[in-house]
Amino acid sequence: MPQSNDSQQASANGPQKVWGGVFREPTDKRVESFSESVSFDKRLADHDIDGSIAHARMLAACEIITAEEATAIVDGLEEIRGEITAGRFEFTAAKEDIHLHIESALTTKLGDIGRKLHTARSRNDQVATDLRLYCRHAMDRIDGGLLELQRSFLGFAMREQGLVIPGYTHLRRAQPVLASHQLLSWCEKFARDRERLADCRGRTNVLPLGSGALAGTSLPIDREHVKHALGFTAVAANSLDAASDRDFVCELAFVLSLAAVHLSQWAEEWILWSTEEFGFLQLPEGFCTGSSIMPQKINPDVLELIRGKSARMIGNVQSLLVLLKGLPTAYNRDLQEDKESIFDSIDTLQAMLGVAAPLVAGTKFDHARVVATLGRGHLDATSLMEALIAQGMPQRTAHETVGHLVRQAMTRNVSLTELTDQEFSRECAGWDGTLRSALGAFRAVERMDSFGSTAPARVADQMALWQQRLFSSADA
Ligand code: ARG
Repeated sequence: MPQSNDSQQASANGPQKVWGGVFREPTDKRVESFSESVSFDKRLADHDIDGSIAHARMLAACEIITAEEATAIVDGLEEIRGEITAGRFEFTAAKEDIHLHIESALTTKLGDIGRKLHTARSRNDQVATDLRLYCRHAMDRIDGGLLELQRSFLGFAMREQGLVIPGYTHLRRAQPVLASHQLLSWCEKFARDRERLADCRGRTNVLPLGSGALAGTSLPIDREHVKHALGFTAVAANSLDAASDRDFVCELAFVLSLAAVHLSQWAEEWILWSTEEFGFLQLPEGFCTGSSIMPQKINPDVLELIRGKSARMIGNVQSLLVLLKGLPTAYNRDLQEDKESIFDSIDTLQAMLGVAAPLVAGTKFDHARVVATLGRGHLDATSLMEALIAQGMPQRTAHETVGHLVRQAMTRNVSLTELTDQEFSRECAGWDGTLRSALGAFRAVERMDSFGSTAPARVADQMALWQQRLFSSADA
């Protein structure tokens, strides 16, 4: 068997690069620190080791290395995992990235056996595999965080059954709704986020390892073996595409950013609703902070930061798309820049979810203040209009009629319920007072009884469904 005679040699300027054979000059130190990624990709270590273990076992199963060599490699990798976990592992820019760190530590332990691990593999398909594993894991954690948040909203909806609040469009009083209905609306948004996450997970869970640098390999590998070992559902079919495909990173960044946008919208609403001016909500004090100069302040900083942090996540989607747009086929080193953006989006959303769920769980409506405002803004106008329509009046006529009645009420500074029968009769021929049953915020809510509407019976049905969806283990 041909042997190289420089297998363990280190250059005078530090460790020999794994790719150094053809080079006559050492890497410039400035290039080392410019091009290193280990400072941020070391968080891939666990997945890199999992991938390498699966790869080594496959190489043995295919008789490319011996079973003894594979065992030594697996044991060596597990030792390295232990060292990294215990903080006993040294990272250096000279060794570029996490992949080279782990491989070189293995070679230090095992000599030439360690030098066999990279058989039929390139860092291009290796990093693509590691990143898919990392993202898959992150998606599962984030899905759990979104589920917790949904459960908090459902819990709040259940505690507030029966409370009517003003509903807004254009941030103007529109129609009354149940607080529970409003709270469940967040469950819907986060359910869609979870669906998108699951969908994205499917496309992420495809194995690139075995694609080599770009062209595959001439060695008789078994990619199905690795697929099963790592829990992938498919094997990527085109080596050129697989080694450089980062669609899953962009998709995930987008899915996370949309969840962050939902959180930001919610945060904005609750910042408003907890102001002295609205006074609807009492936020838990443990989730507010004070002012260093104004002793009376209790500020909604957590909600503001949730709103604020979503900005960077939106930026990350843009960074990733721009990163990819100019790349020709197959791996280009630009791709190393994908990690900080996606890691940041994952970390940020997780951090947001970590505070959002308990904040929701600790928040209360100020019933007295909410109920005291229900008479304002003619929230029952649409209910009256629909009652007229139900009696046969054309919609446009009913709209105009109620418009006149509202104007009359505004002129006298009263609510629609306070108009006299005479005033109603002037606008509606045949007024006999029965339509008063459409007036008042509570009655208006009760009448909104079609599927998806805010009537108490409908909302109770939805709460029961959510209870099933979020707490039955099959679905949760
Ligand atoms: N650190 C690199 C990255 O994250 C690993 C792949 C490097 N491949 C190469 N041929 N230089 O993309």
